[in-house]
Amino acid sequence: MTVNISQNPEGVLTLTLHRPDKKNALSLAMYSQLTEALQQAGRDPAVKVVVLQGSASCFSSGNDLQDFLTAGELNAHHPTVAFLYQLNAFTKPIVAAVAGLAIGIGTTALLHCDLVYAAPGCRFQMPFSQLGLCPEAASSLLLPQLVGYQRAAQYLLLGEAFDTDQAVAMGLVNQQVASTVLMAFAADKALALAKLPAAAVQQSKALIRGKIKREADKVIATELEVFGELLKSDACQQQLQGFFAKK
Ligand code: COA
Repeated sequence: MTVNISQNPEGVLTLTLHRPDKKNALSLAMYSQLTEALQQAGRDPAVKVVVLQGSASCFSSGNDLQDFLTAGELNAHHPTVAFLYQLNAFTKPIVAAVAGLAIGIGTTALLHCDLVYAAPGCRFQMPFSQLGLCPEAASSLLLPQLVGYQRAAQYLLLGEAFDTDQAVAMGLVNQQVASTVLMAFAADKALALAKLPAAAVQQSKALIRGKIKREADKVIATELEVFGELLKSDACQQQLQGFFAKK
């Protein structure tokens, strides 16, 4: 298992990325686990809130670059694609706890979370252009909405990294929390949400996010078309091979 799944009696389902030897790079199997867990959580009335976290020192180094080398068609059956749509469609609140690295989808997934807490000194980065790729997970829509176009260009075109202070300032992260208490803090916030009337919380999320989600759904499809083409390009394949050649 590379995603550990646990549920408490109060209705908090915790999904913990656990692939420490690869800095929690998301493999196809992990995407499938996450998608299935979210689908079940969506159906199960006993689940009120989901917590998404990595370890106390690393959230995620992003998509497994090895899988990018052998991606195949990015259709609805592809585990990564299925995860992106499921994440966007999820109707219950998601609380994220981020420490260390949040690269690629490690950052863009946060744009779909409702509350995000991060340890000091995290490295957030979306190095899509550097890899010869383009934004995914509707980040081409959600990031400019959050930070404005020019700053989105800084992070999505130049692929510049930013830290927790900057992530808080731009509104991607709700609050910086000391690493020693990060997971407990996120769990407490999840519990606070779980104790509220579930229908009120979910209907409120639908009101706040519904329109954006419908738009994001279309943007994910458009991004994937471009992403799939770029993935096959020489520039991208060279970047990916270069990463493993350096190892
Ligand atoms: N996909 C696959 N493997 C990855 C990975 C990824 N996204 N990120 C890290 N790993 C692997 C490394 O290959 C290495 O494996 P090895 O020990 O078998 O050689 C292991 O995880 C540890 O990574 P390492 O690079 O040694 O750690 P670091 O602390 O020096 O650097 C990163 C960490 C995340 C900065 C660096 O690994 C990196 O740039 N990874 C790629 C990030 C990325 O581009 N993600 C996709 C964005 S779209």
